[in-house]
Parts: sequence; C-alpha cells; structure tokens
Amino acid sequence: MRIAVYPGSFDPITKGHIDILERSSKLFDVMVVAVVHNVNKQGLFTLEERVQMIRECTGHLPNLEIDYFSGLLVDYISRKGATAIVRGLRTVSDFEYELHMAMMNHQLLPEVDTVFIMSNSKYFFVSSSLVREAALLGADVSDMVPPNVAVRLKAKWEERRQERGPLR
Ligand code: PNS
Repeated sequence: MRIAVYPGSFDPITKGHIDILERSSKLFDVMVVAVVHNVNKQGLFTLEERVQMIRECTGHLPNLEIDYFSGLLVDYISRKGATAIVRGLRTVSDFEYELHMAMMNHQLLPEVDTVFIMSNSKYFFVSSSLVREAALLGADVSDMVPPNVAVRLKAKWEERRQERGPLR
C-alpha cells in the first residue's frame, strides 16, 4: 500500500492546498494530511479548528486521512508507514526552502522521498499567510479558500473589528 503524507501548517487550508490534494491523492492509496502542532507558534486558528476545516472541505476525496503531529516529521512518517512526503511548489522562492527541507528529511530517513506537485497557476500567489492578512483587514478571499474557511475568516475579522474598533 502506497501511503503519502502531506504536511503543513494549514492555517488555514486554501484552495491551493485542496488542488494539490485532489491531484496527489490519485497517485497514492492513502494520503494523510498532517497538520503540524507547533507549540512555539501560535496560529490564527487552533489545531482543532484547522483539522475540522480540512475535514469539512475534503469530503469528496475518499482516500484521505486527516491527522496532526508534533515533533519531527520523519518520526511521524515512520509511525505511519509512509514512503512519500507531498509538497506543493509555487515559485522559485518556495523551491530553495523546499529543496533544503526535502534533502534534510531524506538524510534523516533515506526511505522517504519528497514528491513536488506544481501549483495550479490559478493559485500561484495564494498562501495561508497572505490570505490571513488580507482577510483580517476585511478583504473578500472567497476565491482563494473554500466556503467553510471563508465563513470562519469573516467571523475572525468581525471578532477583531469589535475588539479594535473601525480602521482609519
Ligand atoms: O505549511 P508549512 O508551514 O510550510 O509546513 C512546514 C512543515 C510543517 C512541513 C515543516 O515545518 C515541518 O516538517 N515541521 C516539522 C518539524 C520537522 O520535522 N522539522 C525538520 C524539517 S526539515
């Protein structure tokens, strides 16, 4: 059985991530979406919210497992019995970071390889960090994230707006 892990922060999941998942899940028997639990980095959404949002918008993909991990990715990969890491690639600037990560992971666990999927050109500029920033300033990001995520981002914006008052 070919098991792959698609790790990431997913804070929040975007349409770019979903596109990578739709395409990569055809290449493997089981695709594990693994949300990193980084105790040193507070995200916009909690770990549980991120997992829940991924679950809500990926019901059409039958061979997905949604999970989270902390610590080293390669340790998690070994526990899952996976042989591949899936990552999406957008720009040249992604490439350098991704190359280093793939080489480090391969050095730590030679049985694992990283499979890169080129991002769909529609989502080339879409990143969770830019989506968060724009949404929290009131932008409509519904073209970039699934509807369930757009609703939650809007709620966060409302929450912050009430705390902060109107922008000038
Ligand atoms: O979506 P992101 O934030 O780009 O994902 C980065 C992620 C989670 C894949 C990476 O930070 C990671 O693998 N973290 C786990 C800790 C680890 O194994 N670090 C060494 C990787 S070379």
